[in-house]
Amino acid sequence: MLTLRVERITRQTPDILAFELVHPWGRALPGYEAGAHVEVWMPGGFARPYSLAAAPDRSRGRYLIGVKREAASRGGSAAMHERVKEGDLICASSPRNTFPIANGARHHLLLAGGIGLTPLLAMAEALLEAGEAFTLCVFARSTGHLAFAGALNEPGLAPHVRLHLDDGTPEQKIDLVRLLAEHEPGRHLYLCGPGGFMAAVRRAASAWPEDSIHAEFFAAPEGGDAASAGKAFSLELTRSNIRVPVASGQSAVEALHEVGIVIPVSCEQGLCGTCVVDAEGEQAEHRDHCLTTSERHRRVALCCSRARGDSLAVHL
Ligand code: FES
Repeated sequence: MLTLRVERITRQTPDILAFELVHPWGRALPGYEAGAHVEVWMPGGFARPYSLAAAPDRSRGRYLIGVKREAASRGGSAAMHERVKEGDLICASSPRNTFPIANGARHHLLLAGGIGLTPLLAMAEALLEAGEAFTLCVFARSTGHLAFAGALNEPGLAPHVRLHLDDGTPEQKIDLVRLLAEHEPGRHLYLCGPGGFMAAVRRAASAWPEDSIHAEFFAAPEGGDAASAGKAFSLELTRSNIRVPVASGQSAVEALHEVGIVIPVSCEQGLCGTCVVDAEGEQAEHRDHCLTTSERHRRVALCCSRARGDSLAVHL
């Protein structure tokens, strides 16, 4: 757990604030990779994940996050906007990366919807530093709703940025269907934004291989199963050699808590990776939105995933 001081708060758009978080005594903060997020503990005592919006090399010893005030806030974004002031101390986790840049790609296509720009901006800056080929497409309602416009307009990054403004001219609009109609070998697609945007990109990218698509969600997509929905099963704890029953209507995290095993959680929607443990992933019905296809072979998010069959072996 880190204690951080809120160094600066800047308004980016009518509903987005940027927070610069530093070590209270000016020491170095734990490093991170582009795409990483930190869990920030809110004044109300709960945590929310926020992506780090600056590439590690450009972070200048601070963590930069962007927080959009959501109309349907469950308390997190409203607390950050209303109660957190410059100079406050807040608690946060060390950075964790569930949205890494793919190694060995020939081209990276980054699609950002609204506040979904935050991890993709860090990735774009890191790709620029690394000299890799990329394009960052940013979708916003208008220039007034464009966060981190200063970073996007920097001379090095600007040639790699395409802007799509809902209220802009037809010529500047990006046709997702046309953009994603074909997949060329070595191209990787990264997307982050609101649910409707994510669904539209996934539909348009139906020709792209699954392992070339990398997505970071803010909220679980609508229509998914609730964590507790499903039949009862057993968790086989391979290190402790015990079996824990998980009832229908109960999550694996809740079942473990009942027998005194506390699994840290944050989002409880399969988004942040806090509850992920090593497991026999082939036995799992994965309901998370943070693990890659290859990670799912050996890891499982216990806040939401269940067993395919009668049992699921986890290495606890
Ligand atoms: S608590 Fe966030 S993925 Fe499980």
